[in-house]
Amino acid sequence: MSNLFHFHFGSYSSSVNICETIPRSDSGLSGLLGCDLSTPALVVCDENTVSLARDIFGSLEGIRIEVLPLPAGEKIKNWLSIEKILCIAKKTGLCRDDHFIGFGGGVVCDCTAFAASTYMRGAKLVLVPTTLLCMVDAAIGGKTGINLDGIKNLAGTFFPAGNIVIAAELLSTLPQKEWKSGIAELIKTAIIDKEPAFFNELLQLTAIVHQRQTIALQPNEILPFIEKAVLVKGRIVENDPNEKCENGRAVLNLGHSFGHALESALRPGTISHGEAVAWGIAKSCELGLELGITPPDRAKAIVEILNAWCFETSNDFLQKNRNAAKIFREALLSDKKKKAGKLHFVVPADRGVVIVEENSRITNYIHSL
Ligand code: GLY
Repeated sequence: MSNLFHFHFGSYSSSVNICETIPRSDSGLSGLLGCDLSTPALVVCDENTVSLARDIFGSLEGIRIEVLPLPAGEKIKNWLSIEKILCIAKKTGLCRDDHFIGFGGGVVCDCTAFAASTYMRGAKLVLVPTTLLCMVDAAIGGKTGINLDGIKNLAGTFFPAGNIVIAAELLSTLPQKEWKSGIAELIKTAIIDKEPAFFNELLQLTAIVHQRQTIALQPNEILPFIEKAVLVKGRIVENDPNEKCENGRAVLNLGHSFGHALESALRPGTISHGEAVAWGIAKSCELGLELGITPPDRAKAIVEILNAWCFETSNDFLQKNRNAAKIFREALLSDKKKKAGKLHFVVPADRGVVIVEENSRITNYIHSL
């Protein structure tokens, strides 16, 4: 199975190729990545993906491909990594028409894309996401970034990859924790989609997985959901590539304001990004109920699917640790997505989601957490 989707994000075109495996031959690989690998290219990966990157790119003959492994983890999403990538690109002799290839999860893809967007004012970019989360969210739509001064993605650019290759084979060694993070983003996208079919099909998959010991899914089970998520996100970003419109791209932040604030409040590594987003989605439902926007049966179905995937939806994180609760509230209230001094929250509606502006009921809800 292999499906190709094309998107137009402002002045950029992005192709997304969703397939089962990545060919190991020069011509097969060049075709799939959409780049002529007889010119130099830089593959950026991390400790977790370097052996796979060498397996795929190392077998190409007589081609100047440099593989740069970064240390793994969120802590490397900084200027130093960008400088390292740019300096290796220069040493490898990359020109503006040559390719940066991000081969890894969200951190690797965000850093590679940021570096590519600044190299000689914009080089070519291919992303090969290796985690479910990155396949369904980070790699699509052109947000790049690094963390700065304790704030996630404070510095970044909009720079969509020309080609994105999503291959199910890369998920075969994905740890359970990473599966869970990706599932949280899938649930998010299914809630945002105005067509209820995505959410209902995800409910059916949830029932199947519930009877198993593992949440790792087979390619034929997960690929249709990856395709749906890519299409939903792709269409939203096509309509608002730079997050400027009301109820535009910002709807993709469902669960993220609460989730990011929780991540800031807890010790690093306590919860994954996906777990924080899942918790944030549950809080968005509570807020939506409070505001009379989220119908009670929809809120119930959303919290049930989150619980079925064993995501925490209670306030135990905050109630057991009052200091964390204080940091959480401060982080939430200083959310960088503030516009004209007001916070905005995405809450589930009857179909899809809506964005609401801060008001006294929202402030009271935040203080009740
Ligand atoms: N992850 C949200 C966005 O790409 O807009």
